[in-house]
Amino acid sequence: MAICKIDYQAPAELLRDRVILVTGAGDGIGRDAALAYARHGATVILLGRTTAKLEAVYDEIEAAGGPQPAIFPLNVEGASLKDYQDMAETLDKEFGRLDGILHNAGLLGRITPFEQYNPELWEQVMRVNIHGPTWMTQALLPLLKDSRDASVIFTSSSVGRKGRAYWGAYAVSKFATEGFVEVLAEELEHLGNVRVNTLNPGATRTQMRRSAYPGEDPDTLRTPEAIMPTYLWLMGPDSHGHSGEKFDAQPPRTS
Ligand SMILES: NC(=O)c1ccc[n+]([C@@H]2O[C@H](COP(=O)([O-])OP(=O)(O)OC[C@H]3O[C@@H](n4cnc5c(N)ncnc54)[C@H](OP(=O)(O)O)[C@@H]3O)[C@@H](O)[C@H]2O)c1
Repeated sequence: MAICKIDYQAPAELLRDRVILVTGAGDGIGRDAALAYARHGATVILLGRTTAKLEAVYDEIEAAGGPQPAIFPLNVEGASLKDYQDMAETLDKEFGRLDGILHNAGLLGRITPFEQYNPELWEQVMRVNIHGPTWMTQALLPLLKDSRDASVIFTSSSVGRKGRAYWGAYAVSKFATEGFVEVLAEELEHLGNVRVNTLNPGATRTQMRRSAYPGEDPDTLRTPEAIMPTYLWLMGPDSHGHSGEKFDAQPPRTS
């Protein structure tokens, strides 16, 4: 079973002076992660496709007295290699390094028998969930290498660790994520300052979960805020030395 740190108590200054990029920061788990990272001292770069949502998170961080965040509107689905290179240049100019990435933006696609899966939707899911994060990471590697202690978290799912009927491209993209992290972690091992892991949030009360399980009572699920301890632990220095590993943000549900 993957390691879970739901009882971790993050020190108030855990992420002080760290520059952390969160994708899909406007909603759901990404929104809460951005707020939690800022609350613990990080300068957060808020990336997402809906600027108004990113602005709302920006305002919330400022109102709470957190370090001034930055907004980076980008639709990962249509982004090109050039977009990621431009992004790296901008972040280099503004911050000079990157101490962490939470790859969180994700698309569910459709839960449907494979025989009926629409190939365009399949491609779309793969672009957002695996191709985008892969090429973004390649472009940002030089900035991560300039950090004293960089943590890159790729968001996985239980269907990316054990396949499940009808989960199609979503499950395949999460399996690819797990594989990519194993490959990259081994390649970066000799550096000693860039670690890469996967994190499965588990069933969490968000819009994506509602789309996947429309009949479920949301009150039976943990909120994004409740699963933040593992997100904080894995982003901060207390998880130093862990790389190429799988983590869970909450224990498996018994019901
Ligand atoms: N919730 C769960 O139970 C659960 C379980 C296992 C894994 N996960 C994973 O956890 C992550 C977060 O999920 P969530 O439940 O918080 O989902 P969510 O509420 O649907 O939020 C997804 C976020 O990703 C952004 N996004 C989607 N497509 C994008 C694109 N093309 N470019 C840029 N941003 C994009 C969305 O932006 P907009 O708001 O602008 O649409 C939104 O901010 C995902 O990787 C998901 O696979 C979730």
